[in-house]
Amino acid sequence: MIFSIACLLLLLFSGCCLGEDYGYEGNHGPSHWGDSYNTCIGKHQSPINIEEHNVKNISLPSLKLVGIDNPCSSFVTNNGHTVVLKTNDSKAATLYGGPLGNNIYVFEQLHFHWGENDREGSEDLINNHSFPMEMHAVFYKEDYKSMDEALKHHDGLTVLAYLYEVNPKPNPVYESIIEVLPDVEAVGKEKTLKEPLLLERLLVPDITTMQNYFTYNGSLTTPPCLEIVTWIDFKTHQQLSHEQLAAFRDLRTPEGNKLTHNFRPVQPLEDRIVFHNIPKEQNEVLKNDNDPSHEHSGQHSIKMPCSIIALGILFAVVLFAM
Ligand SMILES: *[C@@H]1O[C@H](CO)[C@@H](O)[C@H](O)[C@H]1NC(C)=O
Ligand SMILES: *[C@@H]1O[C@H](CO)[C@@H](O)[C@H](O)[C@H]1NC(C)=O
Ligand SMILES: *[C@@H]1O[C@H](CO)[C@@H](O)[C@H](O)[C@H]1NC(C)=O
Ligand SMILES: *[C@@H]1O[C@H](CO)[C@@H](O)[C@H](O)[C@H]1NC(C)=O
Ligand SMILES: [Zn+2]
Repeated sequence: MIFSIACLLLLLFSGCCLGEDYGYEGNHGPSHWGDSYNTCIGKHQSPINIEEHNVKNISLPSLKLVGIDNPCSSFVTNNGHTVVLKTNDSKAATLYGGPLGNNIYVFEQLHFHWGENDREGSEDLINNHSFPMEMHAVFYKEDYKSMDEALKHHDGLTVLAYLYEVNPKPNPVYESIIEVLPDVEAVGKEKTLKEPLLLERLLVPDITTMQNYFTYNGSLTTPPCLEIVTWIDFKTHQQLSHEQLAAFRDLRTPEGNKLTHNFRPVQPLEDRIVFHNIPKEQNEVLKNDNDPSHEHSGQHSIKMPCSIIALGILFAVVLFAM
């Protein structure tokens, strides 16, 4: 009797350890993911270390985000691996342009990766440098109608990645998310944000730097690590205070421990090329100013504010006068 109970427990236990779940520690950790998910042992895995001296400069058409300027009800969930934010909006935000060309991608969710302290936590590294946090905004290809279907295709997903650095001042844009984190400390907990969220503030913190990004083809950074993601990593870093970062480390894992870190180590680049998009500023400004249709609501392309151009002209005049 005792023997059979022991067997049953062993069976349950091994079931849970043999790949139904993954973590960031011990025998659930990233170096073991390949044991249960053979798709995690690929040649185009993410994250990677981006060596700035080793990227290829290109100038792609503008990356455009549509429908992100309406405040929408949204909620966060602790899924045991990270905190996920989704919106209740029936009309989801969409993304196209840049490396995506005319293919439209639909916003699904955004989530975060962080580390035990402020010196590490990002997934992609830049020149071997780790950042304390990275946000991923996940979009699936509209043609595939759903996230589940998109996962079956090599061009199924695109992810916008944002890197953070520590700033003495808290960033007000993230307050509405951070203030509900204590309500979702336990795995499976869900909480609606107190105020409607303006996705624009998170996804386009600064329109003038939006076209400056790295892009490469890679994978999901969590099992099953499918190699179906066009990565777009913005070059400009966002700011969070130490206290804001620390709030994420209080979330719990399925075992009830603190989720102190949830980033996968970098994977080999292999035969891939990382591109650096260099915005064609001058051309864009001229084109946009001649195009009366460029002010579609919620649609973003880079535009240099007139004041900057005026300042430039003034500067040139002053220089000339001297
Ligand atoms: C790529 O662009 C960067 C930034 O504009 C520049 O510093 C670098 O020299 C360029 N690299 C090449 C190979 O042209
Ligand atoms: C949004 O959707 C979530 C999950 O479906 C639900 O729990 C929540 O009540 C919804 N909130 C609103 C304001 O509709
Ligand atoms: C990053 O680390 C690798 C391996 O240690 C090294 O070969 C490379 O030169 C480093 N890159 C930079 C930019 O420091
Ligand atoms: C990335 O993948 C897309 C589609 O899957 C392909 O069209 C594109 O050429 C790839 N880009 C690179 C740099 O390999
Ligand atoms: Zn992620």
